[in-house]
Amino acid sequence: MSDGARVVDTADVGSPTEDLLLEAVDITMRFGGVTALEDVSLQVPADQIIGLVGPNGAGKTTLFGVLSGLLRPRSGSVLMNGSDVTSRSPQHRAHLGLSRTFQRLELFSELTVREHLVVARRVKRKRHNFFFDLTGFGERSDSDEAEAVDATMELLGLADVAEQPATAVPLGTGRLVEVGRALAAEPTVVLLDEPSSGLDEHETAQLADALRRVRADRGTSFVLVEHNVDLVLDLSDRVTVLDFGRVLTEGTPTEIRNSPEVQAAYFGAPVETP
Ligand SMILES: Nc1ncnc2c1ncn2[C@@H]1O[C@H](COP(=O)(O)OP(=O)(O)OP(=O)(O)O)[C@@H](O)[C@H]1O
Ligand SMILES: [Mg+2]
Repeated sequence: MSDGARVVDTADVGSPTEDLLLEAVDITMRFGGVTALEDVSLQVPADQIIGLVGPNGAGKTTLFGVLSGLLRPRSGSVLMNGSDVTSRSPQHRAHLGLSRTFQRLELFSELTVREHLVVARRVKRKRHNFFFDLTGFGERSDSDEAEAVDATMELLGLADVAEQPATAVPLGTGRLVEVGRALAAEPTVVLLDEPSSGLDEHETAQLADALRRVRADRGTSFVLVEHNVDLVLDLSDRVTVLDFGRVLTEGTPTEIRNSPEVQAAYFGAPVETP
């Protein structure tokens, strides 16, 4: 990603948040009578993995919807590189460097692993034609395409299955394809919604290694929503805990692990200290 992507809107110079790639400020979101998020804030600096945990229905996926632009919050703001994008479309935010995966795996049986990455890259790079060509195949390849897609597959350990139909690979590999799609357009921030869901221990370890490699190699930031708390505490620089739509606490993995509030409200029982 070029330095140009980090340039902030001059109107925002002096804001303490301009170093953040992505920020949610006091987001409130309601669905009818249900308050899914209340005054939730989240900060994503460059080159960091931010964990987001909380029980079912805590509001994690809703926050991803608000961050990515699929949901318009009732109040609060979303900023990218210090500029307000609250009213901007998902396509605009993707163009500014935001990418996401969805909780449910959605791969196309007609496409190979490699083609999934190619399509994702073309769609995100040619946003002006997005509505005319949702498949991305009508778009021409750019000169860096083959190299960039190969590099992403290499980083995720997908090179060996590149030519296989994406629906023929094991679930763990399928999750990596999903991550590969999100990474294909070389975003600065990626929102991952339960990427380890349904994976066995070995596949989860592979996923964790892949995310570490991507961060080390590209400096990509991630927001990681997970029910696998050990994975989040292991991978994240900081963790936010949501409970019933509110931020219960935020801190380093060590602070979160030792927080009595978290143990009582989220883990259910005190964790014995060694
Ligand atoms: N489209 C919607 N319409 C109505 N209510 C919704 C909608 N999406 C989410 N909700 C409600 O908002 C709350 C937060 O849901 P959300 O899916 O964000 O939780 P989550 O933390 O992602 O849960 P999970 O861990 O089960 O994925 C829940 O009470 C849910 O029922
Ligand atoms: Mg969810």
